[in-house]
Amino acid sequence: MNNYNILSTPLSLAAKDAECRRPESHCVNDHQKQKWTVSIHLDRAYEIRCVEPLLEPSNTTLIDIGESRARRFIVLDDGIPDCFIEQIKLYFSSNHVMAEYFTLRGGESCKNFATLQNLIDALNVFGLNRKIEPIIIFGGGAVLDLAAFAASIYRRGVPFIRVPTTLLSFVDAGIGIKNGINFGDTKNLIGSFTTPLAVFLDRTFLSSLSKQEMASGFGEILKIAVACDENILDALEANAAKFQAKHFSDEEIGRILFHSIDHMLTELCPNIYENNMNRALDLGHTFSQVFELNLGELILRHGEAVALDINLSAMISMHRGILSQNETHRIARITELLGLPMTVPNVAPQRIWDSVVERTHHRGGQQRIPIPERLGKCLFINDLTYEELVHALEKFAHKTWRD
Ligand SMILES: NC(=O)c1ccc[n+]([C@@H]2O[C@H](COP(=O)([O-])OP(=O)(O)OC[C@H]3O[C@@H](n4cnc5c(N)ncnc54)[C@H](O)[C@@H]3O)[C@@H](O)[C@H]2O)c1
Ligand SMILES: [Zn+2]
Repeated sequence: MNNYNILSTPLSLAAKDAECRRPESHCVNDHQKQKWTVSIHLDRAYEIRCVEPLLEPSNTTLIDIGESRARRFIVLDDGIPDCFIEQIKLYFSSNHVMAEYFTLRGGESCKNFATLQNLIDALNVFGLNRKIEPIIIFGGGAVLDLAAFAASIYRRGVPFIRVPTTLLSFVDAGIGIKNGINFGDTKNLIGSFTTPLAVFLDRTFLSSLSKQEMASGFGEILKIAVACDENILDALEANAAKFQAKHFSDEEIGRILFHSIDHMLTELCPNIYENNMNRALDLGHTFSQVFELNLGELILRHGEAVALDINLSAMISMHRGILSQNETHRIARITELLGLPMTVPNVAPQRIWDSVVERTHHRGGQQRIPIPERLGKCLFINDLTYEELVHALEKFAHKTWRD
């Protein structure tokens, strides 16, 4: 059974966080062998709930979680426009919550040790009560990743709530249990799997996103469509204009977003700790590392890099005679329709191969590269060669789908 719950109407959550997160454990000892086995059963359920409008002062969903309502430490992404920041501040003051705000520079550059340390310093100064004052994080995927990581290690873990404010974090980065920071050239090398107490979704935040940030979010929706459900691809194609116009309150757009989240969680939940390393959700995440971060330099947004990777994977699949030319070109056309780039950045093929090697190491020594088998389904390959990659890159450069 899936361990998540998406509700469209605000309900008050049972605020039993400290209780229900306490692991039950027991110890069995074997005196003869001087050996002890500690078994831990973790109960880590959390709710992802759409609450609109989340910042209506009379709606106390956001502060009902946590034993005490007196204080909250709130992390804010500095990309969130002032009008929302004012609403956030009004929300807490109207509810008589003493709020401490910590604003972080949004975007990939915050995912580093120095920012992590600054945040931990601020938590210390605030004197966070580690059991009863959940940290509330408002932001895009990068701020959510960093601040959730800080929460997961501060005093060995304090509770936190995520409120995603970008499209990408709404459908992907904000709703799972991964968090972390980058290290050297490797994205998310340092991090943890830690459950939030809850995730609250409100489409209102998405109205202020730039075209590029919107498109980046489509990159992850495209992943879900190509990996899991061709119907989402059809819907993206049919509604691209509405999306570009940010008609997020539109019924059809809402349906696409919630359908994507549904698929995302259906894939994620049975394998949430990634014990099975053949993951359909890794589609778009093999070559993308270097499109995003090369030699310490940020090149593309996460979702843009993912979309390019999906298309490169589709090209490889087509050359192997698996995906048809029509299907490959359809993915490419929809990618462009969504405002995503279809030009591979000027990166040496060897660097892209280095990304494959790094991912292979991360995936337990096998490549496990998801490539589309058909629209809505992936298969995994373990035998990609450098020559095959270079060939696909050359073909990709010709942009035949535009013919
Ligand atoms: N933990 C996970 O499971 C997971 C999954 C996918 C991606 N990620 C990570 O998520 C990150 C990408 O997230 P992202 O696409 O949200 O980008 P982002 O967090 O880099 O944010 C993009 C920009 O949008 C700004 N912003 C935030 N909210 C805004 C709003 N409401 N209006 C206008 N601007 C706003 C930010 O300040 C930033 O400048 C990457 O670091 C990626 O590795 C994590
Ligand atoms: Zn991703």
